[in-house]
Amino acid sequence: MTTFLGIESSCDDTAAAVVRRDAAGRAEILSSVVEGQASLHAPFGGVVPEIAARAHAERLDHAVSAALDQAGLRLADLDGIAVTAGPGLIGGLLSGMMLARGLAVATGLPLVAVNHLAGHALTPRLTDAVDYPYLMLLVSGGHCQFLAVEGPETFRRLGSTIDDAPGEAFDKIAKLLALPQPGGPHVEREAGGGDPHRFRFPRPLLDRPGCDLSFSGLKTAVLRARDELIAAQGGLTVQDRRDLCAGFQAAVADVLAEKTRRALGMFPAPVLAVAGGVAANTVLRARLETVAAESGARFLAPPLRLCTDNGAMIAWAGIERHLSGAPANADMPARSRWPL
Ligand code: KG4
Ligand code: ZN
Repeated sequence: MTTFLGIESSCDDTAAAVVRRDAAGRAEILSSVVEGQASLHAPFGGVVPEIAARAHAERLDHAVSAALDQAGLRLADLDGIAVTAGPGLIGGLLSGMMLARGLAVATGLPLVAVNHLAGHALTPRLTDAVDYPYLMLLVSGGHCQFLAVEGPETFRRLGSTIDDAPGEAFDKIAKLLALPQPGGPHVEREAGGGDPHRFRFPRPLLDRPGCDLSFSGLKTAVLRARDELIAAQGGLTVQDRRDLCAGFQAAVADVLAEKTRRALGMFPAPVLAVAGGVAANTVLRARLETVAAESGARFLAPPLRLCTDNGAMIAWAGIERHLSGAPANADMPARSRWPL
């Protein structure tokens, strides 16, 4: 058995978790504490790096003690500590890494620096003991990429967004329509009562081969439609807002479904897995499930609390790296950019 503490502080969630892997390779999440900062950043309409760093510095030790308490363990019971070293906001990363280094020095436990994206990408192994290889679609507020996952350190990027991430687009649409942040769930709810065919928004990059994506033009198209309505009728009706959301969501789902079809063509894996906050979208999930079924792949969407940022995925990625025999990387500096 291998038991790791995982520490995550790359964006706006202060998270710590304890995960155990048994001899057969199955994982058990002994605890997972996530202290979100949404209310701190809400007045500014987006994550403020300085506020995030300060909040992580103030809350990390609490998150770690709570994770150990809930697991019923002490530091001495662990086999190692994993910490997110990037990519992300540098202040938050430094807070997490300083705490992790301090704990590792004090206890003599091995320290593993983890790539946040690897944490997301390895989540299907944490939740469902999925075997390599599999195809991962990572769709969050900060990332959008297709990854061929072939081993704990072996990721091949098949395509990624050339501008915004889809979650970022959902959030911007919510802002345009005066809906609360983070916008994804609100846009989805509005879209549920709307007509997806009233506005025909563009499906960016579908005319280009491969599975790169783009979402910024789509956002501009929604903005233009909104402004035309306001100019013509002096404001938006409830139905206008719903129809704009439905049209936008349909465009995002169409693009992601088609690009996923292509990614499965490039990498015909037995499993298609999703991760990231946008994977919570039920319309998108249904589309991806259909695409997976068409290629005979199993569709796997981890529970939402493990799709979004958490410490358990970092602990698990740390365990996988530790057991893979990869060289120690505890001296790695925090990296705001760190492509897989
Ligand atoms: O993975 P995540 O928690 O954070 C990172 O970006 O790392 O993802 C958050 C994003 C936000 O942009 C949020 O609006 C989006 O996920 N989101 C959704 C839904 N729920 C959350 N987007 C579309 N539909 C949803 N139901
Ligand atoms: Zn993330």
